[in-house]
Amino acid sequence: MDMQAPPAALLSLSCIAVRDETPTVKTFRLRADSGPVGFTPGQALVLKVPLPGGPVWRSFTISGGAGGDLELTIKAQAPGGATRWLHENLRDGDSIEARPPRGAFTLGLRSNDRLAFVSGGSGATPMMAILRHLADTEPETDLAWFHAARDPAEVLFARELAEIQSRMPNLTVAISVSRAAPGWFGYRGRVSRGRLATAIPDLGRREVFCCGPQGFMQEVRLIHAAEGGALAQFHTESFGGAAPAAAPMAEAASEDPGFGLTVNGRAIGIRPDETLLQASLRQGVIIPCGCGEGMCGTCMVQLVSGQVDSRPNGGLTPEEAAEGYVLACSTRAASDVEIRLA
Ligand code: FES
Repeated sequence: MDMQAPPAALLSLSCIAVRDETPTVKTFRLRADSGPVGFTPGQALVLKVPLPGGPVWRSFTISGGAGGDLELTIKAQAPGGATRWLHENLRDGDSIEARPPRGAFTLGLRSNDRLAFVSGGSGATPMMAILRHLADTEPETDLAWFHAARDPAEVLFARELAEIQSRMPNLTVAISVSRAAPGWFGYRGRVSRGRLATAIPDLGRREVFCCGPQGFMQEVRLIHAAEGGALAQFHTESFGGAAPAAAPMAEAASEDPGFGLTVNGRAIGIRPDETLLQASLRQGVIIPCGCGEGMCGTCMVQLVSGQVDSRPNGGLTPEEAAEGYVLACSTRAASDVEIRLA
């Protein structure tokens, strides 16, 4: 593949409302200047956040949307980062750019009639998007949702969940908080096999959609397997706003010097067994990334020249692929390669 591509199409979005969900979480309602934007519940939007030191791209799950609007429910993280900037600066009437919705953590993965959602913290957002869709289209769905939060004040969407539950007879919801306050009647403590098996006794026979921090998802994956669940029935999604350099940094075992890799004009090398992202980060060249699994689109780069083995996992639209974009976290070099940050 050898091509010079135009910039991928960006959405120009206007913020039309901001509402507080918890003391540290806000929902931003966005409307595209070009008209209604379609998305599949569970997909994410990659925002171009104009930080003072330069714009950064961050992926956030779409928590909902109606009438072509999109809602992002975002927890404020550390000062100086993208989420804090959005909390402090994005107001009703402001504009922001984004790449079109993308991602494969959707009901398209479903192969079982019995579902379980297991989420931690902000990992509730894709679940909520999928749940709203199920409540409207398949209210009889057999679904058990276990959500872990730090304290009762941080439980997202509690009021709406109660309303949805009244419309979905086969929906059970269990919430566990690690810092319970007086008057809390739900589960207490972090996710554990005992707690999860109590809340969802047939977990191993359900298809699990899991979203939360990496360690949380690994733990839930082990619990699901221990309860007899099949690996193919376990789907994960890292929640939005992951660290910009959070990609897998596995040490390359190969002695093969591999190929040349040029990133924004800077020449480095790439071994056959590493991705464009791994090679770049290993040699001190930062490419923003989120999921590290080809799903969120944050690490999208423009392929200027060279042959590659590109395996996007829902994080690239067909139009972007046709325009010569690849995902650095899921692309390996098959010749000398030149890329440019998108
Ligand atoms: S980091 Fe998410 S697609 Fe590469």
